[in-house]
Amino acid sequence: VSASRAPLSEQRELSELAEAVRACKVCPLHVHATHGVVGEGPVGAPLMLVGEQPGDLEDREGRPFVGPVGRLLEEVLGRAGLKRSELYVTNAVKHSGWAEGEGGKRRPHPSRTEVLACRGWLEAEVAAVRPKLIVALGATAAQVFLGPGFRIHLSRGQVFETPWAEGWMATFHPSALLRMSDPRKRAEARIHFEADLRSAVEWLR
Ligand code: URA
Repeated sequence: VSASRAPLSEQRELSELAEAVRACKVCPLHVHATHGVVGEGPVGAPLMLVGEQPGDLEDREGRPFVGPVGRLLEEVLGRAGLKRSELYVTNAVKHSGWAEGEGGKRRPHPSRTEVLACRGWLEAEVAAVRPKLIVALGATAAQVFLGPGFRIHLSRGQVFETPWAEGWMATFHPSALLRMSDPRKRAEARIHFEADLRSAVEWLR
């Protein structure tokens, strides 16, 4: 999977987009966050991965998937024959999440309102990168494409139509794997996760 050369104007579009995301105040999440975290990767990347929301480390460094979840993601990508540098990796929500009150405790998932508030940024990234296939990591990202009824366990690994690209599919979020305490379930989910990424590579051939 490799990106075609992109015109300079689209590269510029992405860096302008990154600046706009860093300055975003559309929803209250920016108040407690350190950085607005935009995606990373080349314009023309055939595959775009969409995660959920920056975690602690991502918030501090201003880059997506740099913590333990990112390490697991890169390991699984490697086993599926993919290099992170050839993909565009982003999140459905660009600021990390904090609950109001209780001294700003971290929340596990963004609200639907936050996902909708950020949707325009994702659309702009898709328009600049023009991926062939979008892979949503986890239910939050999948719901951007198909609404709140989407169930990862029932529909992961299938390629669906979307006006955003030639196709999209959903698979597990790597942090869901890290959270699974039952080793058998975790191993099973990891096999499915790898298999889904492999079938994304096959689909792109
Ligand atoms: N989880 C995500 O969904 N995105 C990140 O960038 C890191 C962890």
